[in-house]
Amino acid sequence: MLSGKNILLGITGGIAAYKAAYLVRLFVKEGANVKVVMTPSAKQFIAPLTLATLAKNPVLTEFYNPENGDWNSHVSLGLWADAMVIAPATANTIGKMANGIADNLLVTSYLSAKCPVFIAPAMDLDMYAHPATQHNLATLRSFGNIIIDADSGELASGLIGKGRMAEPEQIASTIANHFAKQQTLAGKTILVTAGPTYEKIDPVRFIGNYSSGKMGFAIANEAASRGAKVILISGTSQQKISNPSVVRIDVESAQQMFNTCMEHFANCDAAILSAAVADYRPAVVAEQKMKKTEQSLTLQLEPNPDIAASLGKIKKQKQALVGFALETENGLANAQSKLEKKNLDFIVLNQANVEGSGFVCDTNKVTIIQRSGKKIEYEQKSKQLVAADILDQITETLSTI
Ligand code: CTP
Repeated sequence: MLSGKNILLGITGGIAAYKAAYLVRLFVKEGANVKVVMTPSAKQFIAPLTLATLAKNPVLTEFYNPENGDWNSHVSLGLWADAMVIAPATANTIGKMANGIADNLLVTSYLSAKCPVFIAPAMDLDMYAHPATQHNLATLRSFGNIIIDADSGELASGLIGKGRMAEPEQIASTIANHFAKQQTLAGKTILVTAGPTYEKIDPVRFIGNYSSGKMGFAIANEAASRGAKVILISGTSQQKISNPSVVRIDVESAQQMFNTCMEHFANCDAAILSAAVADYRPAVVAEQKMKKTEQSLTLQLEPNPDIAASLGKIKKQKQALVGFALETENGLANAQSKLEKKNLDFIVLNQANVEGSGFVCDTNKVTIIQRSGKKIEYEQKSKQLVAADILDQITETLSTI
């Protein structure tokens, strides 16, 4: 799978650096050309000579090599690489990458890299769980970088928790899978809806929901990384995306999302509707801020258009339509009935009351139900990996319709 691929492996200063030797070995065995760049502190955890011998290439750590007068160009390293892998990635390097700090050869190479970047964090559990680290990882995701989640287990500190670097085999197979599925959506245009809708009550209030938009943004990123042009229609969401293949259109209400979807759908090969669209909106929007009274208040609501059902009605034979069903009870039956009513090709069911699944968290546990009735139940995994599963199904659907 990696035959002839140029892999730039960045190693930072954490105890998991010892596993990087094995990772280099796996890459080389798979046929990749490997160059290793280390941070100065990584050299304290593993000898550059070990890595250079395995990689069959000199290990780079400094911009300037006084011994032979060589200048190690981060720009040419970044351009050489078909993939950059940073394993292990410490909290420090993750922080620098997220903030554009360029004070060593590894992070300057990262900033110069135009290729996909894979990051395998490794650190103690509290550092991993810290909001600063999680915020930086979210920022890197928004840049389109692929985070290979840390595993749970015994840590070098003796504590037990999440923070262990993913095993080298898993890292190597993530990269191999990436190349295997690369560009499978080239030439396709995919519409994705994401996030909540806000339905105005008055100038300062709205009816909304807890959707974060994380799932939809992960789908948009994954589709773009497979070569698709993506039209991401997002309700109010804090998520960021900066992939040049993604055109982001921000909307607020269900009606605006509906109008924007109707405008773009005809030019799309598929639509993935992950937005949590409000079913109702206030029948009247007060022009001025509503004042409190002693009386109870009743708001008259009127139905919003159902985007999925409307697209289901106008969908052409060659277009794929995918919906989500977020359920708290009777998940399979409800999802199946939405699939039929909305004329979807498949539906992604997630259960709001299952731990590690739903709106705000970074993971999801989903079941995909196809029109044929086939059900695929997945393990709980990061939303990024759930997005990959959904895009695999889309690719298959597009090849059969
Ligand atoms: N959906 C939509 N437009 C709406 C409501 C929902 O496009 N006005 C889409 C969602 O994006 C999702 C699917 O329809 O892909 C199912 O949404 P969900 O809220 O689970 O279903 P509803 O049809 O709204 O049914 P209910 O709220 O009664 O469960």
